[in-house]
Amino acid sequence: MKILVTGACGYHGSKLVPILLNQNHKIIAVDTQWFGNYLKNHKNLKIIKKNILDLKKQDLKNIDTVIHLASIANDPMGDLKQELTWEISCLATMKLMENALSNNVSKIIYSSSASVYGLKKERNVTEDLSLEPISTYNKAKMIAERTILSFKDSINISIIRPATVCGLSPRMRFDLSVNMLTYQALKNKKINVFGGQQIRPNIHIDDLMNVYLFFLNNGSKYNGIFNAGFENLSILKIAKKIQKVVNSKIHITKNVNDVRSYRIDSTKLLKLGFLPKKNINNAINEINDYYLNKVDNVKMNCFSLEWLKAQQSKLLQ
Ligand SMILES: NC(=O)c1ccc[n+]([C@@H]2O[C@H](COP(=O)([O-])OP(=O)(O)OC[C@H]3O[C@@H](n4cnc5c(N)ncnc54)[C@H](O)[C@@H]3O)[C@@H](O)[C@H]2O)c1
Repeated sequence: MKILVTGACGYHGSKLVPILLNQNHKIIAVDTQWFGNYLKNHKNLKIIKKNILDLKKQDLKNIDTVIHLASIANDPMGDLKQELTWEISCLATMKLMENALSNNVSKIIYSSSASVYGLKKERNVTEDLSLEPISTYNKAKMIAERTILSFKDSINISIIRPATVCGLSPRMRFDLSVNMLTYQALKNKKINVFGGQQIRPNIHIDDLMNVYLFFLNNGSKYNGIFNAGFENLSILKIAKKIQKVVNSKIHITKNVNDVRSYRIDSTKLLKLGFLPKKNINNAINEINDYYLNKVDNVKMNCFSLEWLKAQQSKLLQ
């Protein structure tokens, strides 16, 4: 298959592209490379350093499937440059879909976010519940979903709403809850927990890669919207899991106003036959094994918000 991956140099993309190449797919990797490029050269890989807003019809020539990952990829980054967040998630997604349609692309896989639900009291947040996004990032993801779905009569569409991802990737992110708290434990022997009772859904990055492959290999069979997250856990419980692996103290700051607390239910995906193989414990152990002696060498670009803030005059035009 010939696959165009947007945001291919990011946390998901730099893990996904080598897997796709191993399966003999031909990949066009499009990315602005805000956080660098960790993709290795390969005969079946073409890397294009480009903003997806500038993609033209010919860029999608002979593409079978688009895996759309490019986005400003969390709440605080979305607030940093709100207009750009809307442009990338909505305007660029619309242009991408129009170019996909005029090139007869047969399938789009979109990485939305479980955060589109906003705050929910329900224990089982399923795909049919209303969306009440809070931040610019969540709102732009919701509109991107709707833009993509408006093409559903002509293109097969699988929209994935991943939970917060954890685990190792060539382009590492230490701004995601499990990864960040494990980093703090390794670096400072102290885990800072703000509040701690907030529930967050989680998915191991290897499972998420398998989710992408699952929809890629099932072509037109599984269209629609699917949650992807298998462990709903409070931040404090995550910290306690880390403490069991990395010798560290937990410091709790009470009375914080982080209201984001939600859990997702992925029964719809599980009922299709998808089986997760890993969990948060695997991610903590893998990060500990890899970074135990390298934690002082972690680069600033692993902290997406800080990196974009520092580089914004150069990167966010
Ligand atoms: N990591 C998570 O926990 C998580 C959870 C749910 C959903 N998602 C979604 O998954 C996708 C991938 O996230 P990630 O964790 O890999 O983030 P990331 O920030 O590591 O990767 C995003 C990549 O997109 C690129 N990019 C951004 N805007 C672009 C543009 N206009 N044109 C071309 N490239 C552009 C960036 O340079 C970056 O390499 C995003 O859409 C994100 O919203 C992530």
